[in-house]
Amino acid sequence: EAQLCKTSELEGITVLVTAGGTQENIDPVRYIGNRSSGKMGYAIAEQAVRMGANVILVSAPTSLSVPSGVEFVPVDSALSMQEAVESRYKNVDVVVMAAAVSDFRVLHKAEQKIKKMESMTLELVKNPDILQGLGSHKEHQILVGFAAETEHVIKYGQDKVARKNLDMLVANDVSKSNAGFNVDTNEGYFLYPDKEPKEMANMKKSELAQYIMKEVVELVANKHL
Ligand code: CTP
Ligand code: CA
Repeated sequence: EAQLCKTSELEGITVLVTAGGTQENIDPVRYIGNRSSGKMGYAIAEQAVRMGANVILVSAPTSLSVPSGVEFVPVDSALSMQEAVESRYKNVDVVVMAAAVSDFRVLHKAEQKIKKMESMTLELVKNPDILQGLGSHKEHQILVGFAAETEHVIKYGQDKVARKNLDMLVANDVSKSNAGFNVDTNEGYFLYPDKEPKEMANMKKSELAQYIMKEVVELVANKHL
């Protein structure tokens, strides 16, 4: 396949990609997770490697194999992902946040396995917003976010572009059964702070990764004008 040929559009550019669903421990044997497969982020990391970028893949646990040619950084919780990303941020040109980050974590993690009982209540606290944090101290970096929405896709997406100071947001419409979590295809919009939305047809995540990274090449080029 032509797409397997290595090109040089992103030579000298460091791209950090996050992928997978974070896991928030409850006790030593249990966690709160989500249905993210990691496929979108891994496809983006692979595409960035093909385009000649230096690629750092910060990944929550997935069942996927590590793409060749990436620097692989395994993490589990949102806090561990934030640490991995923030510590590398100043040396990175592009961040693509494809990970499904848990909005909450367990306030009091049990040291020992919790024994069964008639009922129990878990107290959750808000996790930091990793991407919003990056946006709040953005310098030369290009920030690309993802959003899964079930309604008002463009409106909610544009709110996220502004709130997180993004250069681009891939807003997926997951009300469609063939988009989003744990399927091989996606559809939705590319949103920007200063450009009209681009509608994306339903396509394979590997193909969408090519379109996303083409946009990234343009964003990088515009920044270096
Ligand atoms: N994100 C993040 N840290 C979080 C939550 C989300 O970095 N704690 C990132 C995701 O990786 C994604 C983007 O922010 O790139 C949008 O995630 P989403 O869950 O759609 O947005 P939220 O701000 O969490 O809003 P909500 O879930 O309420 O729609
Ligand atoms: Ca969220």
